[in-house]
Formats: sequence, C-alpha cells, structure tokens
Amino acid sequence: MKVTIVGAGNVGATVANVIATKGFASEVVLIDIKEGVSEGKAMDIMQTAQLLNFNTTVTGVTNDYSATAGSQVIVITSGIPRKPGMTREQLIGTNAKIVKSVMDAAIEYSPDAIFIIVSNPMDAMTYLALKNSGLPRNRILGQGGMLDSSRFRYFLSKALQKAGINATPTDIEGTVIGGHSDKTMVPLVSLATYKGIPITQLLSEELITEAVEQTKVGGATLTKLLGTSAWYAPGAAAAAMVEAIAIDANKLIPCCVYLDGEYGEKDLCIGVPVILGKNGLEKIVEVKLEGAEKQKFDESVAAARDTNSKIGEALQ
Ligand code: LAC
Repeated sequence: MKVTIVGAGNVGATVANVIATKGFASEVVLIDIKEGVSEGKAMDIMQTAQLLNFNTTVTGVTNDYSATAGSQVIVITSGIPRKPGMTREQLIGTNAKIVKSVMDAAIEYSPDAIFIIVSNPMDAMTYLALKNSGLPRNRILGQGGMLDSSRFRYFLSKALQKAGINATPTDIEGTVIGGHSDKTMVPLVSLATYKGIPITQLLSEELITEAVEQTKVGGATLTKLLGTSAWYAPGAAAAAMVEAIAIDANKLIPCCVYLDGEYGEKDLCIGVPVILGKNGLEKIVEVKLEGAEKQKFDESVAAARDTNSKIGEALQ
C-alpha cells in the first residue's frame, strides 16, 4: 500500500514513522511546502530501517504532488498547530484554506484515495474536505476519537492507580465520541471498563469526573507543557486508522465521519464509533446514548455545527 502524509511537521512525521515501523505499507510519501523538511525527515526515518527492522520505503518531497500519485490513503496534517491558551476552533481562519488547497492538489493525483483529516479544528476540516471534494463519505475520515479514547484510557488507568489498582491503559476499554474539542468531546463513562468491570464499580464519582475532565483538555494540557500541540499520540492514532484500512481490519475505531441520519443527525461530521476496513468507513455503530451522555453529545453536535458555519468565511 502507498500512503501519503501531507505535512511533515511533528504529527505528520510521527504518522510516517509509526507506519514505517509497523511494516504494513510498502511506501510512504511525506510532502510539505517547507523546502527540505520532508526530505530530511524521510531520510532520518529511513536511517532507522536497519535498526528497527522495517522494509517500508519513506520518501520526502517539497510540494511535488506528482510523487504522491496513486496513493491509497492520504493523511492530511497540514496547517498550524495551536499555541498555549488557544482553542482548536481558533485555527479555522488559517487551516481551512490550507486543507482545501492540499485536498485539491492531492486528489488530482490520487482520485481513489481514502482521506484521513488530522488538521484542526478537525471535525470542521473533515466536513470541509467532504463538501469540497464531493467524495463519498466512506472515503473521508477525521482523526480525533481514536486519540481522545486513548487519552481517556490513560487517565482512567491513572485514576485506577489512585484507587489502588495497578491498571495500564491496555487493560481498559474506553470510547470518546463527539467533537474533538476541549469543551464538547464526550468520554463515555457508561462504556468504560477495566478487565470487563464497569469503572463505575471501581472508581469514585470524583475520580471518574477527574479522568473525564483531564481527557477533555488532554490536548490543551500538552500544548501548555510543550508550547505547541502534541504529536506522539495524535500521530499514532492516525497511523492506527491507516493500518485498519490497509489490513482491512474491520475493527471498531471511534473517528469523525459524516452523519446522514445516524444518531439522529444529518449533514455534519462528528466523532462516533465506526468500523474501519479497506473501504474506509464500512459501518457506523450506533451506541444507545441516554441521559447526560445523550445531552452532552447533542451539545457537541451543536458546537460542531457552529464551527462548520464559519468555514465559508474562513475560506474567503
Ligand atoms: C491534540 C491535537 C493534535 O489533541 O488536536 O493533541
């Protein structure tokens, strides 16, 4: 499989690195507008091939989309990351134009590709990519839920440790839906388990609330610590989505997709659990939402619609 990653910043390079080390793709092309950056990062990654024992070929190019021709999956990470104190939504003015232009360029050379949008504000950028390209919704996916769910599992493992249980994130099931946004993402406590046991039976309400709130601001916390947004987990999450498509995993991954009646919503892209396989979105899994979780999802939908309403202006 040939994969293109647009944007060779921290996140894009991490996606390339994780894909290479996992070995499921034959070829990865990194492309960026900054002269030499993609070439340098690709060469650096390739110089780990013998050390890490992989056979994927990673190449880097500066703005030459012909090198991306025939890609099966294209990951878009282009745009600016947020600085401490910023929301993801504040990036729309800059990133909407960038996402639109890279989609236009990439699709010309890879008309059959499946696109994974990572650029923020991700849910709105996924909606823009879908509307602008006119591609069927199975081929336009946004990366957010996979990352947020992984953060949720991490924070739940810390909460369980505080409660005297030596949990690791891999012992935990946890799903986050809704927008990839500090205020409105929805960590689903009702579905979270440790070794199959509902966390509500193991943790106090206080510890659960703490883990939920830490998850919601997980990206902002790292942005404050790092001075820019995170890359290891966002990159690994996008790579996991590429892998699910590459190996036709047909496995459940929370990600941002276009809803057409599912969850009672239409005409927006937002995070829900989906089955990812060789066609990209294979199926949306409709989890029954009740009470506060349903209300929070509705709030998240309203917030995503509000951000979408700003796309037109951002493109001018
Ligand atoms: C984050 C950014 C990349 O959540 O959206 O870290």
